[in-house]
Parts: sequence; structure tokens; C-alpha cells
Amino acid sequence: MRHLPTALLLALACACSGGGSSEAPPAAPAPPTQPTPPPLPTATLREAYAGVFPVGAAVTSRQLDQADEADLLNRHFDMVVAEYEMKADQLAPAQGEYRWDAADAIVEYAQAMGLQVRGHALLWHQTTPAWFLEGGDRNTIRERLETYVAAVVGRYRGRIFAWDVVNEVVAAGDGTYRSSAWHRAVGPDYIAWAFRAARQADPECLLFINDYGTENAAKLDRLMTVVQALRDDGVPVDGVGHQFHLQRGASIDGVANALDTVAAAGLLNHVTELDISAYNDPGSCWADGSGCLPALTEDELPAFLSEQALLYRAVFNAARDRPSVEAVLTWGLHDGQSWLNSTPLPRINHPLLFDRDLASKPALYAVVDADYEP
Ligand code: XIL
Repeated sequence: MRHLPTALLLALACACSGGGSSEAPPAAPAPPTQPTPPPLPTATLREAYAGVFPVGAAVTSRQLDQADEADLLNRHFDMVVAEYEMKADQLAPAQGEYRWDAADAIVEYAQAMGLQVRGHALLWHQTTPAWFLEGGDRNTIRERLETYVAAVVGRYRGRIFAWDVVNEVVAAGDGTYRSSAWHRAVGPDYIAWAFRAARQADPECLLFINDYGTENAAKLDRLMTVVQALRDDGVPVDGVGHQFHLQRGASIDGVANALDTVAAAGLLNHVTELDISAYNDPGSCWADGSGCLPALTEDELPAFLSEQALLYRAVFNAARDRPSVEAVLTWGLHDGQSWLNSTPLPRINHPLLFDRDLASKPALYAVVDADYEP
């Protein structure tokens, strides 16, 4: 009640004071001394970027059943992507046996709430069930892939507006293509097979090649080589998904360069998996678990949160300045749910815009309010 305007307080007082009495109404109580008005509620994320680009978050179907998490999602976001429930090991653990329940639940929830859905990811070497490649010759493997893509993209035709068709097919180091089980089995052609099958199953759907590390010039270069080869062959690629799993201390220049390079090639940009780890781990931490930084102490946290807020703001500004950026999604809704609490090692992390209590972090304020000083 403290914050209700005086006029409303008076109206409520009148409405509640004993009806039916013929006595003169008691003198109106003296207006309470006005407390300092609370600050206006900050704009939500989706309000702040309305008309610029939709903002999304990776979710799990279970989260959508939890009222507090679902409320946070509905309040701040326009879009969802399944954190893992649309990957092939989940959708088709055995050949021809589809498990749609979790993916359907996400799509149905999104439709009911007016959220857009990004599809992630039709083909990823880390989540390819063995049956795709086992004992098959080139044609059999191609047919399995095309059948799978047709089934999944076809099922969500018109409901998923963009798919990550392939994820992380670019080499992490030497070479151009990742030397995955797919590549070893059939060479790079599987990428084109997947894109063509997806286009056929839903001609309206936007098709993306998604990868991490595009903020590094050498990785971006390799990715653009792959994209160029696909386009030279007339393969339908609409855009590049930049995961942007950034670490503390990352420079915005690499992010801006990645977006500019893709736009200059005439392709769309989606920022697909944005988060900012509290740990500036060396590559070895990801490769073999060595050299990972120790968990932040409570005392160290505020300085990181301020730094993180400035980097989040820089990324959102870079996206805002570039019309080729048609979506920005964070990889998770809040810190408690992030994959970075368990990858590359179990360690508390703080990578997202909302904390474990679902409260807005300095990073959220920084991206919705240009005047906020973290
Ligand atoms: C991660 C999910 O967050 C985890 O829950 C899952 O078990 C493994 O995958 N790049 C991607 C995402 O493209 O699919 C990954 O998601 C994170 C890295």
C-alpha cells in the first residue's frame, strides 16, 4: 500500500468505509506523508529491444513447468531454444524411433505464450547417436540423415522459424572441417545433405550454420571458407549462428568483426548462445582440464559482475548497431541453470543476466538502461 498514489488510497478508503450509514462521512484522513517514490521499474529485456531484435533464452521443458522460471521467461524474452531436447540423441535415440514429448512441450508452450522458437541443432557430432553412422555405406548414411532431417524439420514446419542445421562442423585448429565421425565417414558432403533436406522439409525456415569461437579471427576465417564452399555449390545457407560463449576479459572487437564479416558476405547473423563466464580459462582447461581458474570468492564477485555488465552491454550494442543481427539468445535463463556450472569442470559460474534467485544482475540493468553505471 505504501506506494499507491494518494488519490487511489482515498478512493479505496471511501469504498471500504461502512456503507448504508446516514451519518455524515468522517472527515477524509490527512494524506499520508509521501514516501520517496520507488524507482520506476526498469524496462524488461524484451521491451528494451522491441523493434530491434527478438531476445531469447535456452530452456528445458522442465523449467517451463516451474512458475517462477516461466514467469521470468515470459516477462523478459521473445524467443526460446531447447538447451538439449531437440538434439538427435534425444529425438531419435534409435533409428526410426522418435521421442517428441519434450520438444513438443517446448514448442506448444512457446505457441501458447507467443514466443518464437529457434531449432537447435539437427546435426552435432557430440549428440549424434551411433545408429546414424554404424555399418552404413555413404548412401545409407545420407539416407538416414535426410530421413531424420525431413522428420524433425517437417514436424515443426511453420512453428520453428530458424534451425541450426549443423553445429560445430568447422575445425577447431588445423584444417577447415572438423575431423568428426561424420567427416571421417563421408567427408564434408554431409553438411550440404543436411541443409538441402532441411530446405525441402520447410522452405520458409531460416537455415543456419552454428559455431563457437567466431570472435577469433582464425576460426572465423575457417568458418567463412566452409560457408563459401557451400554457397558456391548452391547449398541453401541463410545465416551464421555465433555461439559467443565469451569469457571474462574478452574483447568486443572480435565480436564486432564476426558480425561484420558475416553481414558483408550477405548472410544473416544470429547470436545463438551468449554467456560470459567468470573465468578467463586457458584453452587447455577446455581441452584436457588443466589450468582451469579457481572458483571466485564472494569478495571477488562484485568486480566481476561490473566487468561482465560492461561486456554484455558492448555485445548488445554491437548487435543493435547491425541490422543483419536478427536474434540474440542467451544460453540459459539464469546462473543456476547454466551449463558453465558443470563444463568444462564442476565450478560455480555466473554467466547470465539473472542470478540463481532469478534476480536481475548488473548485466541486465546494463543492457536495458544506457544510463546505468555498473
Ligand atoms: C550444452 C547444453 O547446455 C548441455 O545441457 C548439454 O548437455 C550439452 O550441450 N555449444 C552448443 C550447445 O552448441 O548445444 C551446448 O549445450 C553448449 C555448447
